[in-house]
Amino acid sequence: MAEGGDKAKRERGEREDVRAGAGRGSRRHLTARTLLVASTWVIMLALAGTAAAASHPNVLNPAGSAAHEIRTLAIQVFSILSVVLVTVWILLAYVIVKGRRRPESKASQTSGNLSIEIVWTLIPALIVAVLFFLTVRTTQQLSLPVASVRFDVVGHQWWWEFDFGPQGFKTANEVLVPDDRTVYADLQAADVIHSFWVPQMGGKVDTIPGRVNHISFTPLIKGTFLGECSEFCGVQHAQMRFVMKVVTPAVYIAWVQHQGQPAATPTGAQAVAGGQLMPTIACGSCHTVRGTTMHGTFAPDLTHFGSRGGIGAYAMVNTPANLLKWLQDPQAVKPGCQMPRIPLPLQQQQELVAYLEELK
Ligand code: CUA
Repeated sequence: MAEGGDKAKRERGEREDVRAGAGRGSRRHLTARTLLVASTWVIMLALAGTAAAASHPNVLNPAGSAAHEIRTLAIQVFSILSVVLVTVWILLAYVIVKGRRRPESKASQTSGNLSIEIVWTLIPALIVAVLFFLTVRTTQQLSLPVASVRFDVVGHQWWWEFDFGPQGFKTANEVLVPDDRTVYADLQAADVIHSFWVPQMGGKVDTIPGRVNHISFTPLIKGTFLGECSEFCGVQHAQMRFVMKVVTPAVYIAWVQHQGQPAATPTGAQAVAGGQLMPTIACGSCHTVRGTTMHGTFAPDLTHFGSRGGIGAYAMVNTPANLLKWLQDPQAVKPGCQMPRIPLPLQQQQELVAYLEELK
């Protein structure tokens, strides 16, 4: 009998050891998880800090009316939800301390208390109603009816087309807009779904094949603002960038008039040779250079290519050296892009570079 009792005690003891070990293990697990979550937050905050410092696109630093409205809404919603969060934390701490287990006390029962039920149904309903009202009001303010500047945007794999139909030109990956004027754009897609986004001007709007979406905003601050595609659209989604330059109305009008002109006649000897060569190779089947025999519409209009700051939707800065690299092998610069490698002797490549860079 005594022996059996000892055995049972020993087994109980082993079980307790196992449980204690498991407890230590899960505590360690919990600490590791807490550390992981905490360090993720620290990294995210640090990244947000560096992004702001380097003046990258930053939704909290708006330069247009729509982005302003969106930031205001974000701050309002964040403030309301912070109050909710802090209130819940305080109540939770109070309950944990006040209501902790004591041998003598017993939890009071409030089940079926009608007034408490009504109060904690009404408070969340009221909070949701306020959030709904603020969101609807902002959404209405985002759709401005009268615009003084209009153009069409078409998302392509992987570049942006800006179509100023009435002014008679198309351009790519770079667009100017005047400050303090309402800008309105129709947004379309040539192939798959993309998303048009200039973080400091307004919200993201998808471009969807077979559908026309719209965006409108009033640029408030002059400067150069980076735009990007914010919907995954294929291998070069990350290199589908453009710039939006906010300029004075006078500069904008001069830009529109200049863009409407046909391509400049080349002057340098290399550029003249490049201008003669280009229509005889494959370029014209995809690209347009207005004033020449090249009328392709699949790829960016190059009529004023030399005036633009980027190559391949800002995969590279537009310099003669980079353009040469691009012409020698677009697939090395932007793997998977739609522009094939066209083998040419170096001299001809240099002539094309000279010609394209003269197309200001
Ligand atoms: Cu276009 Cu992502």
